[in-house]
Amino acid sequence: MDKVVLITGASSGIGAALARELGPQGAKLVLGARRVERLNELAAEIQQSFPSTPAPLVQRCDVGIAADVEALFAAAETRFGRVDVAVANAGYGLNAKVHETSEEQMRDIWQTNLMGTWYVMMHAARVMIPRRSGHIMVVSSVVARRSLPETGAYAMTKAAQLSLVQSQRVELAAHGIYVSSVHPASTETDFFKEASRRSGHPVGMIGQSQTAQAVARKMVRRMQRPRPELWPAAGSWLGLWMASALPSLTDRALARKSKG
Ligand SMILES: NC(=O)c1ccc[n+]([C@@H]2O[C@H](COP(=O)([O-])OP(=O)(O)OC[C@H]3O[C@@H](n4cnc5c(N)ncnc54)[C@H](OP(=O)(O)O)[C@@H]3O)[C@@H](O)[C@H]2O)c1
Repeated sequence: MDKVVLITGASSGIGAALARELGPQGAKLVLGARRVERLNELAAEIQQSFPSTPAPLVQRCDVGIAADVEALFAAAETRFGRVDVAVANAGYGLNAKVHETSEEQMRDIWQTNLMGTWYVMMHAARVMIPRRSGHIMVVSSVVARRSLPETGAYAMTKAAQLSLVQSQRVELAAHGIYVSSVHPASTETDFFKEASRRSGHPVGMIGQSQTAQAVARKMVRRMQRPRPELWPAAGSWLGLWMASALPSLTDRALARKSKG
């Protein structure tokens, strides 16, 4: 794949799995996250297994800091001359009831998950518009369309991401740029460990889980054949249909589940 792909949150989980899928296909990778040592290990692993793959560009990037995201795009342009696909993937989860979420938790998750995504969408548009091509892919969640108990703050950021995606997809279509969202269900990554740490209690997966590799493979396919939304878990639509067609029944089922 002769594409320059920039991935935020590439040090773990879905972002790292995506890099592992794209590296062997010859993509030029731009990997951002705060844990640079993990990015360096990942870049070395890809290079070792596939020596013909161009060396990935690794850079520390806290997506909650606008200047970090700007610098990541600037470095990508300097090294590779363009960005073909920008994946706004960095994010984390939090489990807390709406009235028990602290102001600090609310501001922090908004800054990372939503503002961090917006910074990527903004800078990606800036570098893609002059070239009249590109794909901005935002990793949202199934909860973007139906929040669950104790995921209010997290789901708020995921729903807000989807709103930005829907607007920007139409805004940039005339510029030859595609904007899409990805909505994973429970995926086997460090997400739950980090959510447990931030929430102060254990947070587990909900329903059937999928691997990060399975999600990443579907994302790669969508880079070749873009569509507005990717829902990697087959069963997601059934739950969403029920949530929108039968909201009260869905509430009761969720209430029963959260008690039990
Ligand atoms: N796993 C799931 O069940 C699931 C389901 C639906 C959606 N998602 C979404 O998928 C995305 C990836 O999550 P994951 O499952 O792969 O979890 P993960 O394994 O915990 O990975 C999260 C990634 O985000 C990065 N990150 C977090 N805060 C950041 C910040 N301020 N700046 C830069 N990078 C940051 C982390 O890197 P550093 O810590 O090194 O910065 C890490 O690389 C998230 O947006 C998440 O909401 C996950």
